[in-house]
Amino acid sequence: MSDNQAVADHYHHGSLLQAITDALLTQGKSPADLRVADLAAVGEFHVGGQQATEHLLEQLALSAEHRLLDIGCGLGGSARAIASYYGSSVTGLDLTPEYVETGSTLNRWLGLQDKIELICADALNTPFQAASFDRATLLHVGMNIDDKQGLFSELARVLKPGALFGIYDILKTSSGDLVYPLPWASHGSISFLGSIESYTVALQASGFEVLSSNNRRRFAQDFFAQMAARAVAKKPGPALGLHTLMQEQSPEKVQNLVAAIADKRVAPVEILARRR
Ligand SMILES: C[S@@+](CC[C@H](N)C(=O)[O-])C[C@H]1O[C@@H](n2cnc3c(N)ncnc32)[C@H](O)[C@@H]1O
Repeated sequence: MSDNQAVADHYHHGSLLQAITDALLTQGKSPADLRVADLAAVGEFHVGGQQATEHLLEQLALSAEHRLLDIGCGLGGSARAIASYYGSSVTGLDLTPEYVETGSTLNRWLGLQDKIELICADALNTPFQAASFDRATLLHVGMNIDDKQGLFSELARVLKPGALFGIYDILKTSSGDLVYPLPWASHGSISFLGSIESYTVALQASGFEVLSSNNRRRFAQDFFAQMAARAVAKKPGPALGLHTLMQEQSPEKVQNLVAAIADKRVAPVEILARRR
């Protein structure tokens, strides 16, 4: 069973807002003069960053009238992309208090506080009334949640009939063992990868129709190849990035994930579902 405190401890940084502010200053940027894209490198904690978010969002037929729930929103990078590019109102929910507090400050820096609300709660037990949302997203969160059917049932409760739900998670694609640390878990006790089959069964049992699934392995490999090419060319990496979140374990976590994707133990996969 998932241990919420252990998951929140895994993501807790301690001085994240200061680290982001320092990195921005290194890049010659100040909180008073930022665009959404300036924060995407740290605010989009998933394979492929903002590009991956945009690919998922394009499938959700979003509009300014929609109210969207982003489950496991982290620092709110996807929420900011949705609110600023589509005009939708976004509620982000996350277990890690420091991510919610820091993300809320980033929203204020960008003047998006009226469009986005981030709250600290468990995805399996949300404070929302039934049928509150028109859309939902889940990006790289299911890996920390054992009870997928509990997760999808709670989402089915808060979504309106016909609502679209976009998932982008790391799924297991063979029975090979994982090597830790990985970005979402430093050891196996908080890692619960599902397969496309188990997600499909849990979604259907929770009141969703699965519309499509898309294995994004090639995209992930291109993304990591570009990252490696920059390192070989000894080009200085950006001051702000996922290393800001993962700190000294960042290279090892990324390396273990790249190897697991390369030999097809795991893959980032999109699933598009509709609330019946
Ligand atoms: C890898 S991060 C992804 C964050 C964000 N979705 C993104 O793509 O930038 C995983 C996030 O899921 C959150 N999380 C894990 N289990 C959760 C749960 N049961 N309820 C709410 N959030 C959860 C963690 O706190 C963390 O912020």
